[in-house]
Amino acid sequence: MNIKKIAVIAGDGIGPEVVAEGIKVMEKAAVLDGRISFEFTHFPWGCEYYLEHGKMMADDGIEQLKAFDAIYLGAVGYPGVPDHISLWDLLLIIRKEFDQYVNLRPIQLLDGATCPITHGTKENIDMLFIRENSEGEYAGAGDWLFKGKQEEVVLQTGVFSRKGTERIMRHAFEVAKKEKKSLTSISKGNALNYSMVFWDEVFEEISQEYPEVETYSYLVDAAAMHMIMDPGRFEVVVTSNLFGDILTDVGAALAGGMGLAAGANINPERTYPSMFEPVHGSAPDIAGKQIANPLAAIWSVSQMFDFFGFEDIGENILQAIEKVMTEGEVLTPDLGGNAKTNEVGERVVQLLK
Ligand code: NAD
Ligand code: IPM
Ligand code: MN
Repeated sequence: MNIKKIAVIAGDGIGPEVVAEGIKVMEKAAVLDGRISFEFTHFPWGCEYYLEHGKMMADDGIEQLKAFDAIYLGAVGYPGVPDHISLWDLLLIIRKEFDQYVNLRPIQLLDGATCPITHGTKENIDMLFIRENSEGEYAGAGDWLFKGKQEEVVLQTGVFSRKGTERIMRHAFEVAKKEKKSLTSISKGNALNYSMVFWDEVFEEISQEYPEVETYSYLVDAAAMHMIMDPGRFEVVVTSNLFGDILTDVGAALAGGMGLAAGANINPERTYPSMFEPVHGSAPDIAGKQIANPLAAIWSVSQMFDFFGFEDIGENILQAIEKVMTEGEVLTPDLGGNAKTNEVGERVVQLLK
């Protein structure tokens, strides 16, 4: 039996509500399969913890998490704690410390999901965003000069190292090659005359190693437009941290909403744990009502099984999600239903094979 140790950080707002359903699915899928099982350790870290202890996680939190095979996270951030503190001291520090430099975000229109553009179909909304997740605009580098003075200036530096840029592109080329898909790089070399010129050059260099992969390169503004007007042109996409953040919310909209957007923060070398979390945040506007859609968090569980090498279980979960969608009877309000979060989770569990 393959036993995996999972650190659960349910976090804030709807985080605990959706994570509870993801865990049910994880457990049932494992029991049905029989080859894998999980040991969960729950960490109470987040904004409530901050208000009590003055910090987002334990002082040795990163050290504690190192012992796990994976982290399952709900969402971080809540009114009452400044966002840049809550996010940097928990979510972003984990991504960084564990070198989770690959952020995998599938944008797929499942059967039963409603696409807001009339020409959106299962065939043309089928992308995998590979977002650089360790540096770029999220390097945390900058300065705040002459605070409060007339000459006040703030700098937020994008950091693009050769190592960091090459490794995300190689990863993306490998995925595109394996899946026999095209690879699109999204950047902004016309205006960002250091970072994105370098990005484009590295993309061009690495593409020489993969002559079999068809490549495209777009400026981010045009790419945002094409995603809406002609989504079928995108298959595997590699882009920088900030552009990937923004475009994957656009993608979430295309694929039926934030409640259906899954993500995985991967450390491909497996030196450190990888982290699985939906794309959405803590959704304070709907928190505490049991109306959050748990399907994104459940889809992230499917990605976790893939990561552990049990792609068949991952596929089983994805099919159960799709079945819930096509049945259309047990859906949360964001998808036009009136079911509760836990009812959706339980329906997925029932539909697992
Ligand atoms: P959000 O993703 O929390 O919510 C945006 C909108 O989508 C809201 O209207 C919300 O109700 C809806 N929504 C999100 N998830 C949903 C779900 N599962 N089911 C149904 N509707 C859903 O983004 P926001 O409002 O900009 O951010 C709220 C807080 O979350 C902020 O503190 C932000 O920094 C944080 N945040 C955290 C993460 C993360 O932990 N990974 C991601 C994004 C935002
Ligand atoms: C996401 C989120 C985070 C990000 C925030 C909460 C820091 O928006 O995972 O998409 O920008 O990466
Ligand atoms: Mn985001």
